[in-house]
Amino acid sequence: MTDIRPIKDETRKKVYIETYGCQMNVNDSEVILSILQDDGYALTDDMGKADLILANTCSIRDNAEQRVWGRIEQFRQEKVRRPGVLVGIVGCMAERLKDRLLDSHVVDIVAGPDTYRSLPRLIAGVTPGNPGIDVALSRDETYADIAPVRMDRNGVSAYITIMRGCNNVCSYCVVPYTRGVERSRDPETIVREAEVLFENGYREVNLLGQNVDSYLWKSPVSPDKDVDFARLLEMVAEVSPEMRVRFSTSHPKDISDDVLYTMAMYDNICKHIHLPVQSGSNVMLEKMRRKYTREWYLERVEKIRSVMPGCGLSTDIIAGFCGETLQDHQDTLSLMEAAAFDSAFMFQYSERPGTLAARKYPDDVPAAEKTRRLNEIIALQNRLSRESNEREIGKTFEVLVEGVSKRNGDELFGRAGNNKVCVFPAGGHKTGDYVSVKVLSCTSATLISELI
Ligand code: 5AD
Ligand code: SF4
Repeated sequence: MTDIRPIKDETRKKVYIETYGCQMNVNDSEVILSILQDDGYALTDDMGKADLILANTCSIRDNAEQRVWGRIEQFRQEKVRRPGVLVGIVGCMAERLKDRLLDSHVVDIVAGPDTYRSLPRLIAGVTPGNPGIDVALSRDETYADIAPVRMDRNGVSAYITIMRGCNNVCSYCVVPYTRGVERSRDPETIVREAEVLFENGYREVNLLGQNVDSYLWKSPVSPDKDVDFARLLEMVAEVSPEMRVRFSTSHPKDISDDVLYTMAMYDNICKHIHLPVQSGSNVMLEKMRRKYTREWYLERVEKIRSVMPGCGLSTDIIAGFCGETLQDHQDTLSLMEAAAFDSAFMFQYSERPGTLAARKYPDDVPAAEKTRRLNEIIALQNRLSRESNEREIGKTFEVLVEGVSKRNGDELFGRAGNNKVCVFPAGGHKTGDYVSVKVLSCTSATLISELI
């Protein structure tokens, strides 16, 4: 059996890894740990014991970067205390800022999302005053042959990255610049990774890509053997009926009926779709270059619910994009009501240098007004989430147990297929079990349930 957990070996050099940003970064840190274990390192969760400190960073909004600049100052203190320790900044911020990160005189290593294989070489080459940097982007790197070392605590649910980069140029988004062009990973390596996870006790895989609907593996043999996302879902679902499949992120312009029908066909493909809408205003959607309209989006939602009644639906929303009027904002609120999202990630617009929006449109909604609109969006979503949860009262769900409830040691928690978190009495069950529960009551975040 392939070893997919961190090596425990006190004699090895130690690496400490902090991860910021999205789920893909979490999985990238697991790829990095795999590469570094092969180079003789072992993971530590104590920065004070590390020979190498890594921050895997995010650039999506300015506040994500500001947090890391704050951490760099703390790493500086650690270097004062222990001058031999190396500090590496990797990921999206490394890609975006490149050698500007070296101006801090704290950072020894800078590596972008496509250069993790060069980390051992970069580390070996560092001497005082001579840092190592590699931020080349790649057209084909997918780390397909690297078995990520799993750092999750529950041993039940794991990420599998199926594609990297992004070919959409949403005008607000820095990701195409930090993660490069889209490329899909060989499906055989994805299925193999899922099989190894299953053999190691995992019961859920979460397939990750910036835009999973444009996953496409070109067969070297014949075009009718090409694998698209619907086919990939099917292949992973067939690893075992006991292995759940989730995925993220879907793009409203690309999510196909084929994917919906495939989801409906397999009990172990979770009925939940994360479908970022960003705005409910056609004027904003056009400026954002999202390539769909409000009407198109709502048609997709209707289709999802007609193919899979009860399917969970979540979204991302940006408040206060360039030139957003009060009417545009109202359009977002009314779309939220119409779509009746179960949950949402909600953000204020943050201008990112180098993006189309930064070059073309003034960031002209005042900060206080952005905050006011965001708060209105959050308040509405809280109501929609509570109402959505109230509709589940009395229903039964199959839940995969993920762990012991933080509030009460006699209770467990886990997710229903629709991604809602259920809390219920342990009743002798344990992490990794499937249990049937009935919902008794709820908060806006949790379904309070009993075992049946
Ligand atoms: N400002 C605010 N939010 C952003 N997102 C992406 N770029 C920006 C930005 N410049 C949000 C989008 C995306 C999510 C991952 O982050 O909603 O879906
Ligand atoms: Fe952040 Fe986007 Fe990079 Fe993920 S891909 S770390 S969300 S900038």
